[in-house]
Amino acid sequence: MRFPPLSTPRLRIRDFRPDDVPFRRELTLGAFNADQSLEQTSDFVGWTMSSYRHLEALYQPPHGEYVVALADSTPIGAIGVQPQMVPWNVFDSKPPAVPLNYVEYSLFWAISPSYWRKGYASEAAAAFIAALFDQYGFARLVALTEFDNAASIGVMEKVGMSIMRNPLGYPSWFQVIGLIKHPG
Ligand SMILES: CC(C)(COP(=O)(O)OP(=O)(O)OC[C@H]1O[C@@H](n2cnc3c(N)ncnc32)[C@H](O)[C@@H]1OP(=O)(O)O)[C@@H](O)C(=O)NCCC(=O)NCCS
Repeated sequence: MRFPPLSTPRLRIRDFRPDDVPFRRELTLGAFNADQSLEQTSDFVGWTMSSYRHLEALYQPPHGEYVVALADSTPIGAIGVQPQMVPWNVFDSKPPAVPLNYVEYSLFWAISPSYWRKGYASEAAAAFIAALFDQYGFARLVALTEFDNAASIGVMEKVGMSIMRNPLGYPSWFQVIGLIKHPG
């Protein structure tokens, strides 16, 4: 089962194509201030495109990254889902000596800065989540971010995720998690 393409009133969500390399590089620089070379970006896009085919052939979930574009085809961002370690026992009443990781499916998103705060990430995420629930029957999905990423936490809230903050100081990469369960 291939995934997407998806449509919303203002957006299209589609597979990466080879001609997306310059856009993906610009997005990484603008959204994450990470300067990846065209060669690195091309390698990433090629791997992403191959993974769509190989995961489908292996009957695996469609983890990977997809392009978010306006209805006129202008690419403005990316959205995806990936396996993610989640040390759920940090929320236990007695702090664990060793956080134990469970594997969940985690959403991620990025929008080019000139398109921020127009509701695009929330619109894309809502459609993406609905499609993952409808087409794959995921029981639940998560999203992770840092304590100070108000924008990403805002997206989680707008799509109906419950937000939890890690009360421990470790692991350092596990700060804020959003959780949404299948509506069925
Ligand atoms: C996170 C990101 C994708 C949000 O994209 P966006 O299209 O601007 O998000 P939305 O317009 O859908 O905003 C949804 C809500 O988030 C909150 N929000 C968005 N930007 C915010 C900001 N700069 N400060 C505080 N809250 C913010 C608001 O509550 C907003 O709803 P509102 O505009 O109705 O008040 C974008 O900021 C981004 O690309 N950031 C860099 C990459 C990143 O951090 N990705 C997440 C990795 S964990």
